[in-house]
Amino acid sequence: MEKFNIAIDGPAGAGKSTIARLVANALGFVYVDTGAMYRAVTWSILQQGLPLEQTADLIALTERLDIRLEPGEHGQLVFVDGKDVTGMIRSAEVTGNVSRIASIAEIRSILTAKQKELASKKGVVMDGRDIGSHVLPDAELKIFLTASVRVRAERRLKEISGDRPDITLEQLEREIAERDRMDEQREASPLVKAPDAVWMDTTEMTIPEVVDRILELCKTRV
Ligand code: C5P
Repeated sequence: MEKFNIAIDGPAGAGKSTIARLVANALGFVYVDTGAMYRAVTWSILQQGLPLEQTADLIALTERLDIRLEPGEHGQLVFVDGKDVTGMIRSAEVTGNVSRIASIAEIRSILTAKQKELASKKGVVMDGRDIGSHVLPDAELKIFLTASVRVRAERRLKEISGDRPDITLEQLEREIAERDRMDEQREASPLVKAPDAVWMDTTEMTIPEVVDRILELCKTRV
């Protein structure tokens, strides 16, 4: 099959990364997790102890960072200036601050430029919040994945229960709803469904069903 780009957007916990990785594997394409890039920046800012209100310093740091995504045996590996930060960028502290950092327009444009570059040779499945609407407006296939907040919180609970043993489903629901709110309401490229994206509510779908549906769409759309 000729190479093309697929954009997968949607709110937190909708299953984007799992689905995007499986679709990329099935097609022999490269998977790019753009949320991991915002997390890598947030991790670096926290690591350096920069005050979050000093936006100019945060932007300067982002400009200097060398962020690399590489395929690993169990998913994508993330490196910042050569250091493997794959596990660290999923911490509760990073998750709690990432949407604030991602609302800074200049940081978005630095990362968007890197994302466009990664997709320039085609054959990429990229997931995020603004891929179909902003980063890859010409992507051959755009998917907007969503699910009810309750189901998204249940899925996240399974993923993270080892790291935060005391967290409750209700707490996770609140955290997810708050991250959605910040991502949807920010001024710079907010989370929004591109007009030409295919809407998929995965509340009652299994992972293989979602993957098969996207692979079917690839045949008809491309
Ligand atoms: O996908 P993930 O939940 O790891 O993304 C973490 C955060 O990064 C999101 O809540 C959002 O604030 C930000 N993000 C973004 N634009 C993207 C990808 C992620 O603003 N393209």
